[in-house]
Parts: sequence; C-alpha cells; structure tokens
Amino acid sequence: MRLLITGGAGFIGSNLTKAAEAENIDVTVLDDLSTGHRANLDGTRARFVEGSVLDRRCVRDALTGVDTVVHLAALGSVPRSIKDPMASHMANATGTLTVLEESRDAGVEHIAVSSSSSVYGMNPALPKGEREWVRPMSPYAVSKLAAEQYVLAYQQSFGMRTLAFRFFNVYGPGQRAGHVYAAVIPVFIDAMLRGVPLPINGDGSNSRDFTYVRTVCQVLVDAATRRVTHPEPVNLAFGTNTTLTSLVDTLRDVSGRPVEVEHREPRPGDVSHSQADNATLRSLFPDIAPVTLDRGLTETLAWMEASR
Ligand SMILES: NC(=O)c1ccc[n+]([C@@H]2O[C@H](COP(=O)([O-])OP(=O)(O)OC[C@H]3O[C@@H](n4cnc5c(N)ncnc54)[C@H](O)[C@@H]3O)[C@@H](O)[C@H]2O)c1
Repeated sequence: MRLLITGGAGFIGSNLTKAAEAENIDVTVLDDLSTGHRANLDGTRARFVEGSVLDRRCVRDALTGVDTVVHLAALGSVPRSIKDPMASHMANATGTLTVLEESRDAGVEHIAVSSSSSVYGMNPALPKGEREWVRPMSPYAVSKLAAEQYVLAYQQSFGMRTLAFRFFNVYGPGQRAGHVYAAVIPVFIDAMLRGVPLPINGDGSNSRDFTYVRTVCQVLVDAATRRVTHPEPVNLAFGTNTTLTSLVDTLRDVSGRPVEVEHREPRPGDVSHSQADNATLRSLFPDIAPVTLDRGLTETLAWMEASR
C-alpha cells in the first residue's frame, strides 16, 4: 500500500510518516515547506515531493502509485488567518479541493482529511457532538469548515471513500515553539525550560481537549488501512476538558520544576472551551486507547529538552 501524506513535513505529518512506515506502508510526502521542515523526515524512507497542494501538476506527480491519501497540508493557526485570510483560504480550502479533484482523477481508493474543532466556534455546547451547529470565529475555522464539507460532498457526489476528521488540540514531539503561531503546549514547555513565566492568554479557565500525536497517528493509520469512511465529520479527540491552569499544574508535576505564569489579554478568535463528544470515533475505531496527558507531556518534555 502506498500512502500520500500532504503536509507530511509538518508536526502531525512527520509523526504519521514514521507511524505508517512502522506498519510497512510506503509513504509519499507532498509539502511546500512553508511551515514544515525537511529534517522532520530524517530517518524515513518517504518519497518527498516539494510543492504546493495548489499546484495541480505537483499533486498529480505526488499521487503516482498512491492508493490512499491523508491530507494534512494547511496553514494552521487562528491568528495567522486573521493576519492573512486569503492565504489561509487558498491553502486550506482551495488546496483541499485541488487534492480531492486530483485524487478523484487518479482513482485513489480513500482520502482522510484534517478539519478542526475550531469550526464549532461560538457554539457553547460541551461536549461538542458532530451534529452541533457550527459558527466559526476566524478565517482559519471557515477554511477548515469549507475543506471538510468538500470532502463529505465528494463522498455523496462521486462515491469516493472519504473521511473528515475534526482534530482538537494535538500535541507531542515534533511540535515546535519559538515562532509567533506556536501552539500552547510547546510554548509552555519552552518557557519552562528557559525558566521564564508561562504566558497564559486570559485567566487560565479556557479549556481544551488535548490528544497526543501518537494516538492521532494510530487512528489515521487505521483509517487509511481499513479505508474507513463516514458520511459526517468525526471528532478526533477523547473527551477530556483540561483548563490551561490545570495544564500548568500537570506540567509542574511531571517536570518537578517550579513554574510561574504570566496572564495576557485573551486573543481574538480563540474559543473559550473545547471538548469532544467522541462516540462516533469510538464506534469507528473501537480498539484505540489514547495516551494519557501525563505520559504524553512527559514524552513531549523529553523531546523538547533533547532538541534544544
Ligand atoms: N496541531 C493541531 O492541534 C491541529 C488541530 C486542528 C487541526 N489541525 C490540522 O492538522 C493538519 C496538520 O497540522 P500540524 O499541526 O501538523 O501543522 P504543521 O504546520 O506542522 O503542518 C502543516 C504542513 O503543511 C504544509 N503546507 C502548508 N501549506 C501547504 C501547501 N499549500 N502545499 C503543501 N504543503 C503545505 C506545511 O509546510 C507543513 O509541513 C492541518 O491541516 C491543521 O489544520 C491541527
């Protein structure tokens, strides 16, 4: 089996490349290296195609000999999309449509795509089931909603086996700090390792459903291998509800280090609370047991310490 991973030089994509190769799956990566790094694929056997998902010729080339696709390429980050909505729309929405069109043309058997919990936006329901109404609060969230809806529409219109996952907050080795759009866990660990206060946007009561990247990759490999398809979006998270304050406490516990925090203004476009209803995920992937937050943070901390 040959799997194309778009965005495979990024955080989740490079972890997925390694997880797929461990299952003897041949991998092709298509990535324009806009936020990813070629070095993330060191030690893998992946065929690497450098180029954009917006470039049909590149996508066609990358699809050579491919049976299944996991489409992860996107410009992440809510603040980035507020700064440049067009760029996020192009990469995330138009890019997904391009991958779908070329995959249809190439007769690909299965395609799984990463949407985002940000599509729920202003909906205060907790936990959030996939049939809850969506109200995106940022251009990023709108672009992910468009992408997932294209994926589902291709199932209905063309009979393609597709799957649209809504990732919540994914964390783990390979996720970098040190740039303005970094995610909260690497930002916190980086601050801790540098001995400076952990910056919390808001009062710390905001909550997130964190999933360790190895768990996410296990689900993605299983989805691709079994060609799992579903007519509705599928939340990919395990229903935890960790406030930023309790995340700091857990980091303090697992690291054994003293940790101070510094509160900042809440960021526009950020949702307050995020927690998945994961009944659909569990019915489609009954064998997956998530890595605990303690264990995941311990491994992430070790990776960040080693890669300083
Ligand atoms: N990390 C999370 O918590 C999270 C949460 C929700 C959704 N997601 C989604 O998961 C996917 C992967 O996220 P990640 O955290 O690994 O991000 P990442 O930025 O590390 O990886 C994205 C990769 O896509 C590549 N890319 C961007 N635009 C491209 C283009 N036009 N053509 C080809 N490649 C392009 C980048 O170079 C990068 O390697 C994204 O679709 C993201 O929206 C992630």
